[in-house]
Amino acid sequence: MTTDRARAPGAPAAPASADPADLTDPADSAHSTGFAAALREAARIAVLSPSSHNCQPWAVAWARSEVSRVAAARVVDGEADGPGGGRGDGTYQYLVLGLDRSRELRSLPAHAVEMLLSCGLYWQLLLRALEAQGWTVDALRFADGPLDAGAARGAELPGTTWPRSWAALCVARLRGRGGAEAQPTNGGAELRALRAAARARRTNRAPYLPQPVRPALLDGLLAPSGCAAARDAAVTVRHLTSGADRAVFADFVAEHGGRDFSHREAWRETHAFLRADRARADASGDGFALDQLFGPLSWPSRQALRAALAPATMRLLGPVRYDRFVGRRLAHGLARMVRPTPVVVAMSFDRTEPTLADAVKGGARLADYWLCATAAGLALHPVSVVLQHEDLRAAFQSALRIPGRAFFVSRLGWPVTEFPCSPRRPADANLRRI
Ligand SMILES: Cc1cc2nc3c(=O)[nH]c(=O)nc-3n(C[C@H](O)[C@H](O)[C@H](O)COP(=O)(O)O)c2cc1C
Repeated sequence: MTTDRARAPGAPAAPASADPADLTDPADSAHSTGFAAALREAARIAVLSPSSHNCQPWAVAWARSEVSRVAAARVVDGEADGPGGGRGDGTYQYLVLGLDRSRELRSLPAHAVEMLLSCGLYWQLLLRALEAQGWTVDALRFADGPLDAGAARGAELPGTTWPRSWAALCVARLRGRGGAEAQPTNGGAELRALRAAARARRTNRAPYLPQPVRPALLDGLLAPSGCAAARDAAVTVRHLTSGADRAVFADFVAEHGGRDFSHREAWRETHAFLRADRARADASGDGFALDQLFGPLSWPSRQALRAALAPATMRLLGPVRYDRFVGRRLAHGLARMVRPTPVVVAMSFDRTEPTLADAVKGGARLADYWLCATAAGLALHPVSVVLQHEDLRAAFQSALRIPGRAFFVSRLGWPVTEFPCSPRRPADANLRRI
């Protein structure tokens, strides 16, 4: 696998690593043409998935050529998709989830998990949207190995036109319900509900109402959709609702929430995803506008903030510990948001040494949770800094008795205000026919 660096900060969004392939082909059967339309629709929904820094590191290949289908069938069940068998008649469609390594965050080891979670979030939404259109996930095979996607083994498709900068994470075999004309679930109602939840979901960094969330409602968020990639995720979800636990968490954030500012490389990478304003964020198709992090800003405050946060300023003023000063200010601001929030949700892998598959499934489980919370009118705002440094993660888990290995922590509550949506790359930017 190649490991090209992320594109230059602020550069316009470019298609990833291979030429975008048109999903349709005049020679396709009715079955495949129907699947291409369903896949396009599913990708429009899935691209709304959250991702760390809004870097959107996911990629999906549709195995269409004979060689790709045979390779994908081998991965899924060890058999070739031969023309004589039931699979050769086009009953099955194969999709492969990838991590586009030219878009991944790398400045911290913890980013490896965040990238896999982001791909898992996308994958779950894509597969749920396909299921809602009548394409059931019949079998899934995840890549083997530890969290390093570069070392993933078992889901790659040798001999195909698989883009070199993508790491293969999972292969799915799908079967149309009702034959060539797959039948949408509940006459399309499920797809409409999923689309509405995906559009309404966003990271809401504004204050939340202090009103508690009923325990029964919180319990309801724990049920996985039973769909696709989240099915057997080994994940524990904890809701911290007591005043004491929430105070411990807020104090922890106040003390450690500025860690990234003292980590030159991490801050440089984060800063590369900050866009000066909404127009620039829309043009790049990724990252976030300053207003999305700090609320509405006047022109002078925007310029002042840009200068204050620039990595060059941090470097120049390093000798007077400016990075610590900024980190402390922002950590206290974040802790002020956290303190009155009625719930903190923490998710952890049951295994303390999770595998790559655990992380992708964890992302899928998180997708179900976040969509369910959105449909209930709740909002989330992840606070990942407490997990991004090993010493902090261990201290956080021990202070709040979080089992396993924590991979996601977020404020959860009733939003006071709507929050603007963040930009996205085109839905088919990382969708290929191979
Ligand atoms: C694994 C993961 C970790 C995240 N961590 C943070 C975080 O620490 N702080 C934050 O403000 N947003 C965090 N986010 C939210 C992303 O920044 C957000 O999803 C992205 O900018 C797209 O915006 P949207 O969720 O509003 O669509 C995280 C998202 C994911 C998937």
